[in-house]
Amino acid sequence: MSEKDFIPAPYILLKEEGEVSYSSPSNIALVKYWGKKENQIPANPSISFTLAACVTKTSVHYKKKNNKADAFSFDLFFEGEVKEEFKPKINTFLKRIEIYLPFLKEYHFVIKTSNSFPHSSGIASSASGMSALALCFMEMERTFLKTLSEEHFNRKVSFLARLGSGSACRSIEGPLVEWGETSSMEGSSNLFGIKYPYNVHEVFSNFHDTILLVDKGEKQVSSTVGHELMHGHPFATQRFDQAHSNLEKLKSILSEGDLDSFINIVESEALTLHAMMMTSNPYFILMKPNTLSIINEIWKFREASKTHVCFTLDAGANVHVLYPENEKDIVFPFIKDKLVSYCQNGQYICDRIGLGAKKL
Ligand code: DP6
Repeated sequence: MSEKDFIPAPYILLKEEGEVSYSSPSNIALVKYWGKKENQIPANPSISFTLAACVTKTSVHYKKKNNKADAFSFDLFFEGEVKEEFKPKINTFLKRIEIYLPFLKEYHFVIKTSNSFPHSSGIASSASGMSALALCFMEMERTFLKTLSEEHFNRKVSFLARLGSGSACRSIEGPLVEWGETSSMEGSSNLFGIKYPYNVHEVFSNFHDTILLVDKGEKQVSSTVGHELMHGHPFATQRFDQAHSNLEKLKSILSEGDLDSFINIVESEALTLHAMMMTSNPYFILMKPNTLSIINEIWKFREASKTHVCFTLDAGANVHVLYPENEKDIVFPFIKDKLVSYCQNGQYICDRIGLGAKKL
């Protein structure tokens, strides 16, 4: 498929007014996306668990404008309050997707959005936020077209969400989504995420992700800047090759339920992501002392308990603690006793693998 396939057929009817709402989740990457080309094309393939509890809920009320002006027209409310500072990001998103949703300038939108997780918790809200907005716009388009298959709907939402934020394209479906062309994954594309197409062992169902909020401060470096720094990075080629190879290895690991090898790849991916940040120029460190303390505690506990708890990291100091459902009665008490004290104000979020976005 190419970008052109996402330009819609002529609309049969543009409704005067209406409202659509969606809830869309965040996701946590197992193989990380870090580095991109023009137009939000990933430098390497990635795969993520879709989450269940960390979601953005967005509603879009739309009303036909009297005359189609040159500017996009919308009001934005975040958690019930007008949020002028979020508007430029939405405006950029609208500009990028306008060619694929040619109705956008015909309407005035009232966008109301809220997160289930605390704002500025250091949890990226761009994945859930951009995917929720893309879903609302696509739901509108669905009513303007004669036919639209479920498959095309999902692909196009993911395609649009990607133009808002790369990782957002992995938030539409679940429980596992792959994004980025790679020879080991049939149907994989740089343009949109696909539901993981192979068999997954039952040990991964209901997998837990307890998110430890180590540092809720503003990130020193945005993901966008971080991705940029992979251009001309001394280890870029090796890193991109490694992501392809880790994805291929994950296929048999996921189907056989090989938790030891799963842990090895997931933790290595997290540390490699941070190693890329530490070895770029300018270089930076997003982990905090407590991030490292938590990692060491997890390693000590895993050795002693013979469980399969492991960690992964995003581009920040928070730690995602991953463990299977059948070990939760041993692992969760350990998290509460030993790890929560490293969190800012003792805050953490209990999440688990989820099935994707929902229409409200
Ligand atoms: C470290 O999707 O936030 O979370 O495309 O610039 O919006 P943009 O970047 P973003 O990058 C996420 C990077 C990551 C790894 C991952 O989710 O794969």
